[in-house]
Amino acid sequence: MDSKMVLEVDELCTHYLTTDGEVMALDDASFKLHRGESIGIAGESGCGKSTLAFSLLNQVQPPGQIMSGSIDLDGIQVADLTEKEARKKIRWKKVSMVFQGAMEIMTPVYTVGHQMVEPLKYHKGIEGKKARDICERYLELVNLDGSIFDRYPHELSGGQKQRVIIATALLLEPDLVILDEPTTALDVVVEARIMNDLKRLRRELDISMIFITHDLSILAEVSDNLAIMYAGWIVEFGSSKDIYKDPKHPYTEKLMAAIPDIRTDIERLEYIPGVPPNLINPPAGCRFHPRCHKAMEGCKELEPETYDVGGVRVKCHLYSEDEEIAESEEAQYETAYDDEAAAEAYEGELGKEEIEEPDEIMEE
Ligand SMILES: Nc1ncnc2c1ncn2[C@@H]1O[C@H](COP(=O)(O)OP(=O)(O)O)[C@@H](O)[C@H]1O
Ligand code: SF4
Ligand SMILES: [Mg+2]
Repeated sequence: MDSKMVLEVDELCTHYLTTDGEVMALDDASFKLHRGESIGIAGESGCGKSTLAFSLLNQVQPPGQIMSGSIDLDGIQVADLTEKEARKKIRWKKVSMVFQGAMEIMTPVYTVGHQMVEPLKYHKGIEGKKARDICERYLELVNLDGSIFDRYPHELSGGQKQRVIIATALLLEPDLVILDEPTTALDVVVEARIMNDLKRLRRELDISMIFITHDLSILAEVSDNLAIMYAGWIVEFGSSKDIYKDPKHPYTEKLMAAIPDIRTDIERLEYIPGVPPNLINPPAGCRFHPRCHKAMEGCKELEPETYDVGGVRVKCHLYSEDEEIAESEEAQYETAYDDEAAAEAYEGELGKEEIEEPDEIMEE
């Protein structure tokens, strides 16, 4: 691993071995993250984003488990660590995570301070006044008053609670902070402020960040790179600038078209028909083919490889030079929607494809 690399993930697979079958929540994920850089991970709910995040901490809950692949975190092979080693060697110190919905599980009977000092005590043996001073400094860094240290969670707003959680994640100065849907439960104004603060903190503290969200519109400002996930796959990975300007994967294209954009005055948004598949038995070939507006005959049978398209990695047959697939191109729409029921359902959804942009969003 080169010295500037913080994280290198290679062909990572994490599945949930349930009584109903094996949920293929994350397959073949590979990417790199340099020190001080950020990655935004986006995709609809159920696409494997949280599974990827938990895998990076080696904290996948049963019946989930890392099946294969590697996670190199600053020279440590994370997937090989036991639970005890992971707790001791990497969590909080090297990588910390703001869990999806974390603010809802702050313990109501303890003060903010009581909850914040725990990791300082456990990992560094810091207690008392020294611990308090460190916590107050980090509370101020996330734009809160240090006096919040003595308050109880129920006395705080949702935004304040989320800032406390973020301050706690930063306390031990990890190399990497993973934020899983950090602003999903908050209103758009608070969301924008917190995202701005995170952008500033990343610069000031020189830490790497991974932002996870189902809402692509909030990532543009904070992510150097983007990973677009669909049905357990990273379908597109590259610089945010390149992907926002010119999305290559049909799924990314549709996700982008669904973002309200006040600058370009787009008045109508797109809608992706259907829902992500059940990952116990995902569609054969390309997992996106039943919903893809560019699907070809070959997409139904063959899993696409990942191609380098001008520096962006794209998992899609459109970029294949394989003649067998290229020749199937003619058949596009009949193949994706040849099943009568699917076609009807699709037609039904088409009515919803263009929805008016809500006024509130235009005013923000
Ligand atoms: N504990 C679990 N047991 C079984 N399946 C799970 C579990 N957690 C997540 N999954 C499944 O794994 C897939 C990915 O889920 P998740 O990583 O939570 O996606 P996202 O964070 O993108 O919404 C989904 O199909 C989900 O139903
Ligand atoms: S491989 Fe085929 S179905 Fe999948 S995204 Fe590309 S064109 Fe669409
Ligand atoms: Mg999630």
